[in-house]
Amino acid sequence: MCELGLGKGSQEYVGFATLPNQVHRKSVKKGFDFTLMVAGESGLGKSTLVNSLFLTDLYKDRKLLNAEERITQTVEITKHTVDIEEKGVKLKLTIVDTPGFGDAVNNTECWRSVADYIDQQFEQYFRDESGLNRKNIQDNRVHCCLYFISPFGHGLRPLDVEFMKALHEKVNIVPVLAKADTLTPTEVKRKKTKIQEEIEQYGIKIYQFPDCDSDEDEEFKQQDQELKASIPFAVIGSNTVVEAKGRRVRGRLYPWGIVEVENSAHCDFVKLRNMLIRTHMQDLKDVTRETHYENYRAHCIQSMTRMVVKERNRNKLTRESGTDFPIPMVPGETDAETEKLIREKDEELMNKLMDRIRGPDALVPQYITT
Ligand code: GTP
Repeated sequence: MCELGLGKGSQEYVGFATLPNQVHRKSVKKGFDFTLMVAGESGLGKSTLVNSLFLTDLYKDRKLLNAEERITQTVEITKHTVDIEEKGVKLKLTIVDTPGFGDAVNNTECWRSVADYIDQQFEQYFRDESGLNRKNIQDNRVHCCLYFISPFGHGLRPLDVEFMKALHEKVNIVPVLAKADTLTPTEVKRKKTKIQEEIEQYGIKIYQFPDCDSDEDEEFKQQDQELKASIPFAVIGSNTVVEAKGRRVRGRLYPWGIVEVENSAHCDFVKLRNMLIRTHMQDLKDVTRETHYENYRAHCIQSMTRMVVKERNRNKLTRESGTDFPIPMVPGETDAETEKLIREKDEELMNKLMDRIRGPDALVPQYITT
């Protein structure tokens, strides 16, 4: 390695080894944000699970029945934001709870409102990014979507396939097997294998855990393999704290025993939470930015360019055919003058398009925010 021209073998210390510390300090000061969405059939425990995941009551405002049934049905897309702090590190967490589907007689395109919501967040970001003030852009892009699969079916249902395929190019999908306490360990294993096969068979592109670096230690590699094999994560949610062997734990109390949410022998809840928070949060954000948002942006720019080209050809054709629309012909106009006029029209159109992107007439509807 080159030693900054100080001569071979010189160990002079310049100080760029502290660069990671500078980045660390800056990121901690700025704080982190993460947006998690939950989607899936109605009544599978989506709202209950997000409450359990972040050890916070996101639904305290909803009308209460009793502690266990505090969460009522989600009837529209709802955004909850909480600021959590742990050892001086701040995290602004946004949970997007979507209404469960499958209850209606006609479930055609039940994914539409969720897909639109994701697109609208991209659109807002695209507008902000193309605007004049690009500082402090609020990033509401959805970084991960936990997709709940029913434990009562024989694998994926046609609606699950349709839903995931409608979203897989827009968001990182992490499938979870809901209400795992209703299944025996053998059933969980069998269902997981079936669902993994079906995901492959139907070409559903779920979130791919990045490959391990070759220099990682064996323990890390094994954990990584276990994580990949756990898909879909078998989860259990609960809003109540129960007493189990003298400890107070989040769990579900049945006449025949207690199911502990955070017990790895009972379900994959801890694995899922570690993946989301401890190990893969940054990667989920990177994939959102580098793949899903880039796709959206490229698509937008492509359609804008297509509009410009179309308009340009129209201008050119109408001039060549001698009609006055949209710019009146000037007697004796030269080709160069025609070209100049058309270029000006292009610019005008481009400006109009940019105004539309930056404009205040945002297409983004308001969702319930708490
Ligand atoms: P929608 O709002 O209709 O989309 O429902 P949801 O998916 O948000 O389900 P919710 O969290 O409201 O839970 C529905 C019911 O399932 C409640 O009675 C919960 O107590 C119960 N429930 C939630 N999680 C679990 C679980 O892991 N196992 C079992 N057995 N029941 C659960």
